[in-house]
Order: sequence, then structure tokens, then C-alpha cells
Amino acid sequence: MSRGLILGIESSCDETAAAVVERGARTLSSVVASQIATHLRYGGVVPELASREHLRAIVPVVRAALAEAGVTLADLDAIAVTSGPGLAGALLVGIMYAKGLAFAQGLPLIAVNHLEGHIHAVLLQERSSVEGQRAQIDEAALALVVSGGHTHLYLAEPTDGTWHYSLIGRTLDDAAGEAYDKVAKLLGLGYPGGPWIDALSRFGDPHAVPFAFAQIKPKTHLGGKPPRTKAARTAPIAALDPHFLFSFSGIKTAVLRYVELHGLRDEAAARVPRMLAAGRPPQTKDDALALCPQPTLDLIASFQHAVIGDLMKKTFAAAESLDAGRILVTGGVAANSELRERFTAEATRREIRIAFPTLALSTDNAAMIAAAAWPRLVASEFAEPSLTADPSLALGS
Ligand code: KG4
Ligand code: ZN
Repeated sequence: MSRGLILGIESSCDETAAAVVERGARTLSSVVASQIATHLRYGGVVPELASREHLRAIVPVVRAALAEAGVTLADLDAIAVTSGPGLAGALLVGIMYAKGLAFAQGLPLIAVNHLEGHIHAVLLQERSSVEGQRAQIDEAALALVVSGGHTHLYLAEPTDGTWHYSLIGRTLDDAAGEAYDKVAKLLGLGYPGGPWIDALSRFGDPHAVPFAFAQIKPKTHLGGKPPRTKAARTAPIAALDPHFLFSFSGIKTAVLRYVELHGLRDEAAARVPRMLAAGRPPQTKDDALALCPQPTLDLIASFQHAVIGDLMKKTFAAAESLDAGRILVTGGVAANSELRERFTAEATRREIRIAFPTLALSTDNAAMIAAAAWPRLVASEFAEPSLTADPSLALGS
């Protein structure tokens, strides 16, 4: 192997991304073409439109990633691609293109689980900042993957350079990011909802509306069957400790009920054209108040405070129960400013190390896919030519 250069390709949802990463540690380029503008007016990802946009973007995005890295296809050692979980049609665009490139160049193809990619976003970030301190990085950690499609807790453990994952907890229904997106839509805010709610929460009272999360009793609720969600299929829920299970569909309904009870529905509908005209979340109190009256800002801040409180409670309880000395928080919701502040303060208080990816590496990107593929390249674990999309691909055991 020459330089250990991997071209990563990611197309599982609404971002077409390509990146070149050296030895799982040094990002030479990371290009992300977002489809936000396409899906904004629908308040969520439209799968058919996502596939069409991926088809349009994939060639220029890969070319840009190679050009920015200053390499050609001939310099690469492997091509890595997300094979699941995600939208079937969207995944297929990346997989077919990656297969074609690998075949034409005679390069090995590596299939990467999107969730493993998110975990490696943190490891990549750590490697690039403290290169050489591998002993610290290649150490077991509790990983919270919290995004638009997932809210999963894993114990990630390295053995001889290969990472193994055990599922510790997960959501029974909506992912945390999905709750952000649905609440944003119902309040007439932009898509994706996370950055809007994050920005507006700063100007509201987080204790104004007391949202509560009840303790989950999955055995009576599901009879031990796996949950029926869009997220990755996993082992029966009954095998997991109910203290580490999440549920975010209730808070979405609670917000809806609050909006109806307080007559905020018309106000939310009237906000849509102003939100579309603004195009991006407000950054000052005046701009926030021009978009939302104070009671709506208070509702938004209370929603965020409750969701993050629940993520914290269960993550730190799992860390304590597993005696984990290190926590990794990753995925789109890990970009949230309140989440970072509160998780960091709690970790400091408990003397647990905590790490997040950079903001750019928190949301979907291909550098994390190329980084996750590096140990596979070293171990010569390659995908079969028959590789196809697996929309509900599970991670670990
Ligand atoms: O990881 P990601 O880009 O895609 C998935 O794998 O799902 O995550 C996207 C999710 C969306 O639900 C979006 O609303 C949320 O991450 N998100 C945020 C923030 N930025 C993105 N949620 C809360 N606060 C943010 N700042
Ligand atoms: Zn993701």
C-alpha cells in the first residue's frame, strides 16, 4: 500500500458527500453538497427528490474531493461507501457509483455502516488533533449516535485495530433529530429543524413549559419484539436495559397539544413565508422576536432543554453502569450548542472524558466514511461485488 488513501462516498440521506482521508487520520478533502434547498419547502426529506439530487451531484462532488485533495484516482488505495442504514434509492446512487469507480480502477471496495461512520467522525477528529496519541484514542468508549435517523448508545471497543460495537440503548420510536425536525415543521420553522431550534432556544426560558419523559417499560409495551422504526433493525428490545431506552414521539405530541391549547397554530402558519424569506436561523434577540413571539421562544427553549436533559440522563447512567471512562457524542444533533455545553459540564463533574466531532464532522459527511474504512483496508476486509443497499443495516451485536 502506498499512502493509505481512501476515497469515501456518502449518500444515505440528503447530503451527497465525498472525501479523501489518509490512513484514517488526515483529511485531505471533504466535500458536502447539501440538498437543504430542495427539501426546505416540504419540511422534510422527500426520498424521490433525494435520489434525483444525488444522481446530479455525485460526479461533481467526487471530482471536487479528488481535486481539493490534489490526487487522482490512480493515487487511491481503496474506495469506501456507505451501504446502510438510510434511504434505499439514495444509498444505491453512492454504491453503484463507488462500485463502478472501484471496478474501473481495479481498487478494493469497502462497505461502511453509516452509524460506524458517525463514531469514526470523533476518532478522526481526535487523531487529527492529537496525532501520535493513539493509545488514548484506541480505547473503549460509550458512543451516543444522535441524528435525524438514530438515537443509539453503543459500547465501542477496539481489539487489534478492529472496532466492535455492542448496542446498549436506542430509541423505540423517533430519533432525537426527527423530533427536532417535526417540532420545527409544526412551529413553521426551517428544515432541518435542529439549527433553527438551537439558535432560537438561546432567547427563550427553558423552564417555561415543564415537558417530562416517563420511564419506559418496553416489556409490557412491545412484548420484547424489535421496535418498528425507520432506524436500523437491532436485537430484541427486551435484551436492553430499559433505563437506556429513548422515546421522542411523546414530546412531539406534547408540543402539538401545547400549540393547539394556546392557539399558536395560526401564528406558526403565518411564520412560514417569513422563515423562507430569512433563509437562515436568526442570530440576535431582535431577529428572533421578529420571527417568534416570546411564548413561542419559551416553548422552543423548553423543548430543547427537555430533549437534551433526557439524552444526558440516559447516556451518563449507561456510562456509570458500564464504568466507561470516555464518552463520544456524534451525529447531527451533536452539533447542538446546548447539548455540547451541558454534556461537557456533566462529564467534567463526573471526571469522564468526552469528545465531539467538529461541527462539520457532526452532520453527514464522507470523511467519517473514509476514516471508518481504514481498519478494514488494513485487515483486507473488502465488499463483495454483489454489494447492495441495506436500508436498515444494523451495527454490532
Ligand atoms: O447526522 P445527520 O446529518 O443525518 C442523519 O444521519 O440523520 O443529522 C441530521 C439531523 C437533523 O435531524 C437535524 O435537525 C439535526 O441533525 N441537527 C441538529 C443541529 N444541527 C443538525 N439538531 C440540534 N441542533 C443542531 N444544531
Ligand atoms: Zn448521519
